[in-house]
Amino acid sequence: MCGIVGLVSERNVTSVLVEGLRRLEYRGYDSAGISVASATDMLRLRATGKLKNLQKRLKDHPVTGLCGIGHTRWATHGAPTRDNAHPHCSEKVAVVHNGIIENFLALRQSLEAEGVSFKSDTDTEVIPHLIERELNRGLDPVSAVRVAIGYLKGAFALGIIFHSHDNLLVAARRGSPLIVGLGDGENFIGSDATPLVAYTRRMIYLDDDDIAVLSREGVTLMDLDGNTIHRPVRETQVQGDIADKGQYRHFMLKEIFEQPSVIGETLRSLVDLANHTVNVDQIAGDIDFSAVQSIHIIACGTSWHAGMVAKYWIEQLAKIPVNVDIASEYRYRRPPPQAGCLGVTISQSGETADTLAALRYARSELGQKILSIVNVPESSIARDSDSVIYTQAGPEIGVASTKAFTTQLVALSVLALALAKARNQLSSDQESALVSELLQIPGRMEQVLTKDTEIQDIARELMHASGFLFLGRGTCFPIALEGALKLKEISYIHAEGYAAGEMKHGPIALIDEDLPVVVVAPRDNLYEKVISNVEEVNARGGRVVVITTESETGQDCKAGYMIPMVACGELAAPILYVAPLQLLAYHIAVYKGTDVDQPRNLAKSVTVE
Ligand code: AGP
Repeated sequence: MCGIVGLVSERNVTSVLVEGLRRLEYRGYDSAGISVASATDMLRLRATGKLKNLQKRLKDHPVTGLCGIGHTRWATHGAPTRDNAHPHCSEKVAVVHNGIIENFLALRQSLEAEGVSFKSDTDTEVIPHLIERELNRGLDPVSAVRVAIGYLKGAFALGIIFHSHDNLLVAARRGSPLIVGLGDGENFIGSDATPLVAYTRRMIYLDDDDIAVLSREGVTLMDLDGNTIHRPVRETQVQGDIADKGQYRHFMLKEIFEQPSVIGETLRSLVDLANHTVNVDQIAGDIDFSAVQSIHIIACGTSWHAGMVAKYWIEQLAKIPVNVDIASEYRYRRPPPQAGCLGVTISQSGETADTLAALRYARSELGQKILSIVNVPESSIARDSDSVIYTQAGPEIGVASTKAFTTQLVALSVLALALAKARNQLSSDQESALVSELLQIPGRMEQVLTKDTEIQDIARELMHASGFLFLGRGTCFPIALEGALKLKEISYIHAEGYAAGEMKHGPIALIDEDLPVVVVAPRDNLYEKVISNVEEVNARGGRVVVITTESETGQDCKAGYMIPMVACGELAAPILYVAPLQLLAYHIAVYKGTDVDQPRNLAKSVTVE
């Protein structure tokens, strides 16, 4: 979750560290800090809250040196205070850390027994003290790091500098990603490539238990025993452009309105536009789709909702049984190995720790081939998969996922078609009709987004509600869950998503005039049933918002508010019907004055378990 940047250079490193942190702020924004080593000193500056607070402090307390590390934090151990902000220091060592040290309490107690006094509540602070202890025992800095790491249990990506050493930066990882960037007269580390691409495109992706030793002259890699190792140098494709909001007030709104174009891009990359067909080999990569007998989809949050929609599509079109698991549960429910079971992981960032751990479990313990749907090239999940379908959403900056979700749905719909085709479950007429339906989504999405002002008006009327219920059935049940998640994340209003038919089994007890009920109701084969559920709400005085197409007969269901939709097929419905829910959450959050793009307690990339 936290972001790390570091470098050793011929120039003053402070501005590079701050710019790197700016690009990493999506990973956490509870506090930020830097440490810089000169030939005679080591200085540290930290500030709570967003990076701009650190920048203000730097104006009053300039810090200079040729070697430094920076960190933007998402708090795990200890409140987001300045004392708990990274870097954490002993007398001679400064450390930035991403991950969790699981045995930190025992380590802390043994260090305290030796007379060390701690300044923070973090798990990280044991690391500089462990290294310092080895330095005091006479080890050189690199050996001290190697020995200290031997005491650590858990996950870490580390950047380490030393007092009076302005040409030495040591990095190490286990579990959490870390990249080395090779520059000219300067070398870098980063928790991902984004803070480094402005300076170099040559990257080394460290493996677990690799140690990297950086100086201005070069980089050497070693294992925990100190043996030299080699890792490939890759030319990164990650783009260095910083996204801007353009005419929009928030990135989230911009990203909602980008959906027609990025859905179009994703479709263009996955289907044959001229013939309206799907190329199975292109989608399957190295995996034999005809041999797939069952599928386990694994993901978190919004990506998990995309997986739930895909279950309906794959089971109906390809007739393959699908389980959808929350990644953090998957390993612990210990599913039995199944012959022919394909693992599908879905992740916008490609770095989500729970999803990555579940992917590795599925490969090593269950023998599954893994196909991943990922938005970020070169991400850990992409690199660990047998096949990857890339969504073409472009960088998503708003923490609440919008365009990444709809492009995931597009990729999953094409995956369902490819699986069906490989198993001879799809006639060429059906294939062509369904691809045509998908190709109409960008235009239809444009039409849906023209309802923005009407949705804003509804948001103004409902913004004071203390809770919301979202209902849907079939592929729109996960869309109801996604609508509730969006509202929770950015407006801090409690919201629940339910399968509409399940309401009478409990949540109906909540219905009164204070609980708005948002109903996702495309006119599909379940429409009449959903409308009966709406009547149950009306009968109890609930305030109902229905999202549906206007009926040709004028016989609409009774609803306090209606968001009119364009007519569409069943495959397109969940992709189109989520957009009004995104806009409703967005406008309610804006009326409530929350930080829409960086809501409290959240981070864009969740790299701790
Ligand atoms: C989405 O709005 C959330 N911020 C969150 O649930 C997210 O979808 C989840 O953390 C999974 O992230 P990933 O897609 O990058 O793996």
